[in-house]
Amino acid sequence: MNYENLDQILNRALKQIDDLKNDAPMSDLIDIKNRYLAKKSELMSILATLGSLDPKQRKNVGQKVNDVKRQIVDAIDTKQKIIEKHALNQKLVNEKIDISLPGKNYISGYTNPFFIIKKEITNIFLNMGYEVVEGPEVESDHNNFELLNIPKDHPARDMQDSFWFDPNTLLRTHTSAVQAHAMQEANGKPLRIICPGKVYRRDNDDATHSHQFAQIEGLLIDKNINMGHLKATLELFLRRLFGQDRQIRLRSSFFPFTEPSVEVDISCANCHGKGCPMCKGSGYIEILGGGMVHPNVLKMNGYDPDVYSGFAFGLGIERIAILKYGIDDIRRIYTNDVRFLHQFKKSD
Ligand code: DAH
Repeated sequence: MNYENLDQILNRALKQIDDLKNDAPMSDLIDIKNRYLAKKSELMSILATLGSLDPKQRKNVGQKVNDVKRQIVDAIDTKQKIIEKHALNQKLVNEKIDISLPGKNYISGYTNPFFIIKKEITNIFLNMGYEVVEGPEVESDHNNFELLNIPKDHPARDMQDSFWFDPNTLLRTHTSAVQAHAMQEANGKPLRIICPGKVYRRDNDDATHSHQFAQIEGLLIDKNINMGHLKATLELFLRRLFGQDRQIRLRSSFFPFTEPSVEVDISCANCHGKGCPMCKGSGYIEILGGGMVHPNVLKMNGYDPDVYSGFAFGLGIERIAILKYGIDDIRRIYTNDVRFLHQFKKSD
């Protein structure tokens, strides 16, 4: 063993440490440390042979080895601090936050006018003591048609072409189907319900039609119910929804499940009944259908028509939303364009 050898080890180690870049991974430095200072390293094995040397040589070589070791340890420590500091600086640069930047504007969702209207209508009827009842969207021919006095082959079926699963099962064409469920469940007792829900028709999808839309059905059954109750209820409802200055108008109509049947109009918001382009000159806008529950319907669903009478009505939720907000195309309600929805932000 000679000093030259130890110097070579020292120089090699120092050079390798020095060559390490400041952004080198710490594992590279650990490799060097293991290479020169681990038990089996060249330097350490020299230390292990000290015992075989004569005392004088032992002292000199021992001192030298320790000196080399200390220098390597110092160089590694220094380099370690440099690498750590560099990593910290890098992190600070990467994670720097510019507090002078404007805050991020997160776009939050807006309530679709459909739901605003549905809630408003529901609340008006809840305040009048109505209960909300829902029914299935997959319906039997029996509930959707027959129990509503629309027998097979009745021409009224033509107005409501639907999607059929089999000759007896279809996607309901109107929420009137819930009437049958509710009446049968009520077992001949008075009823006061509204039934919101989706309905389906085989319509072409255009600006005013969609194959799927939503209705709210209303049904009230009790003793001594007459057309006056229906008119007063709908007037109260429509004025709460559209404004106290609105007039309502009942026109006679036909629905198989009501007799008499009416089409209900409200005075045009623009001209107040005088006639203008918005209401196509009529002064009124058609809003919903209704009537007195047909005695056959009462009978088929468990009520004695000599004791009980009732009224029913049905409205399209989208149609009401379109009228209330002046929406030009029903499809806007379904496409969730934030530019459209944004306009209803304050209404929620
Ligand atoms: N079911 C009817 C439709 O979808 C709407 C309707 C009219 C419901 C008159 C009623 C009613 O309850 O009495 O066209």
